[in-house]
Amino acid sequence: MTISVRDVATLAGVSVGTVSNVLNRPDRVSEAIVARVQAAIQELGYVRNDAARQLRAGHSQTLGLVVLDVGNPFFTDLARGAEARAAEAGLSVLLGNSDDDAARESAYIDLFDEQRVRGVMISPIGDVTERLERLRSRGTPAVFVDRRAGTSGFSSVSTDDVAGGRLAAEHLLERGRRRIAFVGGPFDLHQVADRFAGAQAAVAGVAGASIEMIETSALSVDAGRDAGSRIVALPPVERPDAVFAANDLLAVGVLQALVMLSSLRVPDDVALVGYDDIAFASATVVPLTSVRQPSQLIGRTGVDLLLRESENPEALPEQIEFQPELVVRASTGG
Ligand code: RIB
Repeated sequence: MTISVRDVATLAGVSVGTVSNVLNRPDRVSEAIVARVQAAIQELGYVRNDAARQLRAGHSQTLGLVVLDVGNPFFTDLARGAEARAAEAGLSVLLGNSDDDAARESAYIDLFDEQRVRGVMISPIGDVTERLERLRSRGTPAVFVDRRAGTSGFSSVSTDDVAGGRLAAEHLLERGRRRIAFVGGPFDLHQVADRFAGAQAAVAGVAGASIEMIETSALSVDAGRDAGSRIVALPPVERPDAVFAANDLLAVGVLQALVMLSSLRVPDDVALVGYDDIAFASATVVPLTSVRQPSQLIGRTGVDLLLRESENPEALPEQIEFQPELVVRASTGG
């Protein structure tokens, strides 16, 4: 049986309002009454319903974060940064994993709305504009993380992925590679499309260089392994001499396929570049060259943008874009 505030009031011989004052404004109640109410709480084992209190207060002390793939260390690093910044503001972060599924993503947005979170950060897979506008109409700001919000009217914090793609391809071209394979997908993800566009632009500037797309169904190790096995199966004259993977998980899968399924050497026969610079990138059998994103800073900045809009709802949306950094390791001869 759930113990209610009314049960506490009856046992202590006071009104429900007095119990509420003892819980929320004890300075307004005499010490004797406070002691009586606390004794009744203790005896009955009453636990206050924080969600109900927070609901009455308007917003809870939590933020919502929806990521594309909680199995990707990039997003757990982003969440870590968001949590650290939220804690500085006395807030907690509720994490939802859309797993690249638009329906799950929508369900999390609705759940965070019911929980009256203080704000929502999201790395969207579907068209979430309408749901986020409904949230905003109820005083709950939303921020895009990991990709620009474009003309949606929301703020965003991300990395310049076109610049990141260019960095990766320029590095491979400087290493003398001329037949680059871009491994990544699905292409309706802005992150993937932008990285490919940046690499294409770099390749277009070098005579005799080419870039071929090997589209994957996901940004995962399994998808990378599948792409790597397709590369291994190519006749030597068609085989790329370099691979730019849209993220490190794909690069890990490509590397595993090359090492396990062929005698191809990395980087001698095939140079390899990933993206994100997750912690594992430096620990792979051939340490991975990768385009580093400031993952934790993206998370921190997402919270800053939410807090700013929470305090000033009229503030204009802001698109914050960090510059990527190339970390050179053995997989390209570093
Ligand atoms: O989830 C897709 C990718 O986009 C991640 O690996 C990271 O690169 C993000 O920007």
